[in-house]
Amino acid sequence: MKRFKIIIVSLCLISASLILFEKVYGQDISNLPQLGKAPIEEVIAAMTLEEKAALVVGTGLKMGEKENNMGFQIPNQPIPGSLADQTKVYVSGAVGRTLEIPRLGVTTIEMVDGPAGPSFGSRTTAYPIATNLSSTWDVDLVYEIGKCMGNEVSEYGLDLLLAPGMNIHRNPLGGRNFEYYSEDPLLSGKIGAAMVKGIQSQGVGTSVKHFVANNQETNRIAVDALISERTLREIYLKGFEIAVKESDPWTLMASYNSINGATATENFDLLTTIARKDWGYEGIIMSDWDTGKDPVEQLKAGLNLIMPGPYQDTVIIQAVKSGKLSEEVLDKNIAWILKNTMRSPKFKEYEYSNKPALEKNAQIARKAGAEGMVLLKNEDNALPLKDKDQKIALFGNGSYVTNVGGSGSGFVMRAGPTVNIIDGLINAGYKIEEKSNQIYSDYIKENTPKQNMMRAIRGFINRAVEMPVSKELAETISEKADIAVITIRRNSGETADRKIDGDFNLTETEKNNIENITSTFHALGKKVMVVLNIGGVIETASWKNLPDAILIAWQPGQEAGNAVADILSGKINPSGKLPTSFPIQYDDVPSAKNFPGTPSDKPEKVIYEEGIYVGYRYFNTFDVETSYPFGYGLSYTGFSYSDLKLSSTNFRNEIKVNFKITNNGSIAGKEVVQLYITAPDKQLDKPSKELKGFSKSKLLQPGESQSVSFIIDAKKLESFYSEKSSWIADAGEYTVKIGASCEDIKLSQKFNLKDDILIRKVSKALTPKATINEIKNIK
Ligand code: BGC
Repeated sequence: MKRFKIIIVSLCLISASLILFEKVYGQDISNLPQLGKAPIEEVIAAMTLEEKAALVVGTGLKMGEKENNMGFQIPNQPIPGSLADQTKVYVSGAVGRTLEIPRLGVTTIEMVDGPAGPSFGSRTTAYPIATNLSSTWDVDLVYEIGKCMGNEVSEYGLDLLLAPGMNIHRNPLGGRNFEYYSEDPLLSGKIGAAMVKGIQSQGVGTSVKHFVANNQETNRIAVDALISERTLREIYLKGFEIAVKESDPWTLMASYNSINGATATENFDLLTTIARKDWGYEGIIMSDWDTGKDPVEQLKAGLNLIMPGPYQDTVIIQAVKSGKLSEEVLDKNIAWILKNTMRSPKFKEYEYSNKPALEKNAQIARKAGAEGMVLLKNEDNALPLKDKDQKIALFGNGSYVTNVGGSGSGFVMRAGPTVNIIDGLINAGYKIEEKSNQIYSDYIKENTPKQNMMRAIRGFINRAVEMPVSKELAETISEKADIAVITIRRNSGETADRKIDGDFNLTETEKNNIENITSTFHALGKKVMVVLNIGGVIETASWKNLPDAILIAWQPGQEAGNAVADILSGKINPSGKLPTSFPIQYDDVPSAKNFPGTPSDKPEKVIYEEGIYVGYRYFNTFDVETSYPFGYGLSYTGFSYSDLKLSSTNFRNEIKVNFKITNNGSIAGKEVVQLYITAPDKQLDKPSKELKGFSKSKLLQPGESQSVSFIIDAKKLESFYSEKSSWIADAGEYTVKIGASCEDIKLSQKFNLKDDILIRKVSKALTPKATINEIKNIK
């Protein structure tokens, strides 16, 4: 009887809500096709033109009450009462969402930034920056970090993280390089794919961005990147291709800039021909925020979703009515959105907890931060700092106020408490020399300018300028301390590129400080370490002989100080290696004379004359010395490489490469091994070597060995022939080079490929309108 009552009451409630629904929408939804139940075509056919137009446009930046009341105007607000306005804000502070159409069962996809962890109204974790993560060369660890980020996205009820950033480090001044992985497309692609897989393993989506060639911030919205087809395919598209094919990201984000004359979001070749046709991409292609001139052209090019909206729908409706845009094109774009909407937690009615595993995530962030730190120099085993009774004098503002990440959308706004370097060292049991601590603390307090709230929430935080350390001050402190640690700190972020003077190069104050501190400490036989708290490459050649040790800590997330202490103390043996070359001087960089383009204050175009010769591909081929090469990084132990064997010296379908690494030092450690290939260059210009594989060893005990193997398949031998639009492996002699960096080749062996192999033919796409005068390796 009781059960019967419950059923009756439920039926009444259901019919009441159906009546209410019918009242609101004027229809009986029981007859309407529902997403997930009816075929997508039927759901689309049941949409009004207004709904269709609003669905291919985001619903704007409606952020939720708290954010809307923060005292500043939030742009892109939906018109009151519009469809966009009716879409619910589920999570306050999300940076964009798609339209919901309840009568058809279409749920919203709610999105947040960014590559260093979710950033919105709730407490999340600031993870190490992308460059710190790629320096681990550890796809399993990056996968773990992805899982942590995904856990925060999903447990806060969000659907999608606007990450990872996968542009190439073309030039060290790139303001957003910290959000990206490497100068090398293979490393970038593999690390990016691991990140996507990790995030998506939690049932939430990613947005691989910024597609493509958004390698600078200066005039990013209008600059036209002129790049040859080969360079695009081999360098700038390659990482994206790997991520798309290996990790199936839910979305791709088309960038602000143009490529060979057509803006990315209106670029049919890029979005439809390459992503859809050549790569078989099946996710949503969306725009970066507020970009593109013509929404109709964007939809025609294959851009499915214009973000963040919400104003473009009226133009789209007009275009359909006037015949300028066929409804078929609109429907095609909608189909991609709906197909992927069904993957989202909102659609699956995921019951989130609002309690992500923040403590556990912070521990994994700390581990990854440390594993991605790169030890550049360690003379006479200055590190690790074994004796915890030694007094450490801490210099550099960054020792006290450490940068955990960069600014802009890559900044994590409500991260957990920052562990500054001083805190991390204290936590690890070190003694800090009091005078230096006192002087810096007072100085920073007095000299930190007022924050601009609007900018600070995006990480544009005003910092005190670096405190000068006179010779006298250094002398006084050196008498009281046993050792010195100097932190050099940098920050950069969205909308601006870095400068050469005082950013890529050290400032005068920083140079003087290093000189004064090293000379006074060394005079007393005491050692000096430099910690680089940086997001991108800086000049090191002119001062690197001064300190005893140099560690790149990058911007290692909220656990910064603990992670630094883990390395300095030897709790974790450094195993990070450089994902990007450190040149001797800025002018040595192959893109230096073409960055940021012309005219330099507001470049309309930037010509990629260096072609495929980006980073080590250039330095190695043209014999230009670097300060620290790609793939370089020291350990507190040492490794030997031996027993290289190739399964054959004649290539047929594949060759198996095998070798052994041994920890020949006295403490446990991990080694990143790199496989490079030198390819025959009779028909086509080729870099002297290219990374074709990498792997990180397990933690090897002293004396322990590990066997490492790689498979070389035909794809690892391919180059792109623009005139044939084909990937071809050239016949000839190849050399396998196993290295500890790109310049420290330990083992090598040759093999032959008898005949050319056509690996695959792709579409003719993104052809430059005029020839690009690329540099050539003519010897
Ligand atoms: C950035 C994107 C970001 C988006 C949303 C844009 O300015 O370029 O990377 O995801 O804003 O915040």
